Parts: sequence; structure tokens; C-alpha cells
Amino acid sequence: MKHELRTPTSVIIAQAECGLQQPDAASKQQALEGVLQQAKKMSKLVNQLLQLARADWHKEALHLERFDLSELTEIVAAETKALAAAREITLTTTIEPGIMVIADQTLLMRVWLNLLDNAVKYGRRQGQVRLTLSKSGNSAVGTVTDDGIGISAAELPKIWKRFYRVDAARSRSEVNGSGLGLAMVKWMVESHGGTVTAASVPGEGSVFTFTIPLICPAGK
Ligand SMILES: Nc1ncnc2c1ncn2[C@@H]1O[C@H](COP(=O)(O)OP(=O)(O)OP(=O)(O)O)[C@@H](O)[C@H]1O
Ligand SMILES: [Mg+2]
Repeated sequence: MKHELRTPTSVIIAQAECGLQQPDAASKQQALEGVLQQAKKMSKLVNQLLQLARADWHKEALHLERFDLSELTEIVAAETKALAAAREITLTTTIEPGIMVIADQTLLMRVWLNLLDNAVKYGRRQGQVRLTLSKSGNSAVGTVTDDGIGISAAELPKIWKRFYRVDAARSRSEVNGSGLGLAMVKWMVESHGGTVTAASVPGEGSVFTFTIPLICPAGK
């Protein structure tokens, strides 16, 4: 078992044991809430791992359909505004309308959500996050830019690895995550025949760019 799974597991066990020993209902309730929170976290992690494991064996079929990626992006951006507002971050968007793709709608929504989640988490409080979607040749091109802590050149190639998280300032307690988001993004984009890259200047911010062919190569 990966050590990342062991942490929530041991917290669940410790909290359950502790809860059982509590004499009063209020403390038991509190311990149960903690157990529930950790169990949810682990469930999310296990789901992500399963999806990545299936992807390794090319068994995860894409559910391809023709849809308006611009519309999907508008919806995701609207959803993210609340998340950004919690850190007083302004999200601005430039979305070219009517970009039709044949792709997996759920996966592309998750690509946006993972990149936006990172931009807000690692972005500067009261900063700016920019999202763009445009068409270039036979591809749709999406970008997410933040003005946050950035990533050093040495760390940049490693961020796509499963469970990789840059330590330093990021271990602030409110920034939680399992280090799977970008591994998922890479898999989701590449399984559509697209590409994803990151560029960053530490202390200034980062930009993530992905491309999705307007028509997904068949059989992928
Ligand atoms: N926009 C960003 N700015 C600065 N660092 C980033 C950014 N996006 C990702 N990183 C760094 O790359 C690491 C890997 O990102 P990834 O999204 O895979 O994991 P996570 O956000 O830590 O956890 P998860 O996405 O699973 O909740 C992060 O822990 C962070 O250190
Ligand atoms: Mg993430």
C-alpha cells in the first residue's frame, strides 16, 4: 500500500479508537465527524488511484460525445468563482465561443477543475487567476495562469508524477492535496491525443497550457 493511503487510514483508526473511549456524546460526535472527513478523503484518493491504474492498462474507455467546450468552460469558470472568492482571488476569463469538440465531457471538466483548483490553492491571496480558451489550428487550447508562489525549474518536471507535491511553503496546513491532480490532468489530456505543459517563475506565478484535438483520434 502506498504510504499516502496509510496516513488517512491511521488517522481513521486513531480517531475511532479515541471516540470509543469518550464518555460523553459530544466528544463521540466530534470524533465521528473526524472519522467521516478522513474516510471521504480516502475514498476520493482510492477512486483517483483506481482510475489511474485502469488508465495504465488502457482499460479506461473515453466516453466520446460532440459538445460545446466553450459552454462547458463557462460553467466550470462560474463554479470556480466562489472557490476563488474564498481566497479573495479574481478569476477572469477569455473564452472563444462555439468551440465544438468530440471528447469526454466529464474528463475535460476535471482537467479544468484540477488546474483551477491548483491556481486558487497555490495562487496569491487577493491575486488574479486567468483562464483562456481559444482555437488554434485543429486544436482547442486552454490556459490557466496564476500569480502565486510558482514552481522552481528543478521541481517543474516532477509535478506530473503521482503523489508528487512541492514542500516548502506549500505545506501550510490549509493547502491540502494528495499530489494526484496533475497526474490525472496529464493522463486525461494525453488520452485525448492532446498535450499539457507548465511554465513558471518562482514568486511570480505559473501558467498551465493544454491542447485538445477538436476531434479525438479514434480508438484512444
Ligand atoms: N499553480 C501552481 N502553482 C504552484 N505550484 C503548483 C501549482 N500547481 C501545482 N503545483 C505544485 O505541484 C504539486 C502537484 O500538483 P497536483 O495538483 O498534482 O497535487 P496537489 O494539488 O498537491 O493535490 P491534489 O491535486 O491531488 O489535490 C502541488 O503539490 C504543488 O506543489
Ligand atoms: Mg492539485
